[in-house]
Amino acid sequence: MSAGARLLLAIAASFLSSPLVVADTTLCGGEGTYSVNSTYQANIRRLVDTLPDKAANSPTLFATAMFGSLPDVVYALALCRGDSNASACEPCVATAFRQGLQKCPTATDATFYHYDPCYLRFSNINFIATTINDNQEIRVGSQRVSAPFELFDAAVGALLNATADHAAADPLKRFATGEVVAGDVVPAIYALAQCTPDMAPESCRSCLADIIRRVPSSSTGKTSGGIIGVRSNYRYELQHFFLGNPQLHLPAPGNFNHPETGQSQEVYKTLMFVGLHTTSTHIPRITFAAMKSEGGKCAIFDVQTLQEATNNFHGNNKLGEGGFGIVYRVSHYYNN
Ligand SMILES: *[C@@H]1O[C@H](CO)[C@@H](O)[C@H](O)[C@H]1NC(C)=O
Ligand SMILES: *[C@@H]1O[C@H](CO)[C@@H](O)[C@H](O)[C@H]1NC(C)=O
Ligand SMILES: *[C@@H]1O[C@H](CO)[C@@H](O)[C@H](O)[C@H]1NC(C)=O
Repeated sequence: MSAGARLLLAIAASFLSSPLVVADTTLCGGEGTYSVNSTYQANIRRLVDTLPDKAANSPTLFATAMFGSLPDVVYALALCRGDSNASACEPCVATAFRQGLQKCPTATDATFYHYDPCYLRFSNINFIATTINDNQEIRVGSQRVSAPFELFDAAVGALLNATADHAAADPLKRFATGEVVAGDVVPAIYALAQCTPDMAPESCRSCLADIIRRVPSSSTGKTSGGIIGVRSNYRYELQHFFLGNPQLHLPAPGNFNHPETGQSQEVYKTLMFVGLHTTSTHIPRITFAAMKSEGGKCAIFDVQTLQEATNNFHGNNKLGEGGFGIVYRVSHYYNN
């Protein structure tokens, strides 16, 4: 195997990241506590007995409930992921409830994110009357993609926006899935977005816009991420992590088009990666260059060829920076 082939394999391998580590999250909140054998506890027990079934048997896999009278009223909400089903939803909510109550045995307000397919919250405050997206949790993966971060982040942003549009427009579940189809530089990306199905389309879309906007800077180039709140959530991964085919498909940015015919990557299968590292003296040090041609061949190029192809490493040709160095768009059609 040539060095070039090994390098391309290394890039391909680094696209295959492990999915987001999704541990259960228990948020014990509220003011004060309730005591053992209190009326409030009895009302929570009634929720435990009914909410999992109620959510699972709803066509939207969502339920709200309310038990008791003041001052012991308990309000609750449970949601299963839109790609789940009744037989998976019921045990998910039941387990989330059981495990969560062990961790928050006397909290008057608690949220249990049972990763990944369901969550619930109960409270003595009537939060089900509002669509405030409380108790948000930001999840950022630990690995970075090899693709240039700028391009990758733009692809994630476009995917999340489009998926959020679809979720808000979904009349039943307010749920959608989508993918960025793998391109020459950017790998396949999968995403889902969901609101509680009782939200109006505009309210759902703005809830999702808020959490998409909140993406932390530490998530730049990360292979996975998401934010979950009580009212809306999204998640993206390099893996196809949800059930069923993605509902929408976006092309990856940064694909290399044939400069003369303008034909897209479907026809023009040649791709060049140029990896450079800039030293402290600002002289680019070439670490590798590889070209993928129709037959999957790879090649290492000499500096002169690379200088020509990138217009002497001109800034206009720079696509961005990835884990393996700076990436340039090539200005010539190389057909080895
Ligand atoms: C709660 O009720 C159970 C059953 O009636 C009883 O055995 C237990 O002692 C009570 N606990 C407290 C702390 O009151
Ligand atoms: C329900 O979902 C579970 C878990 O996602 C899956 O394994 C199962 O095949 C699904 N059942 C049906 C009837 O679709
Ligand atoms: C996503 O939508 C927001 C507005 O909600 C916009 O500001 C942002 O530029 C969009 N991002 C992409 C990558 O399209």
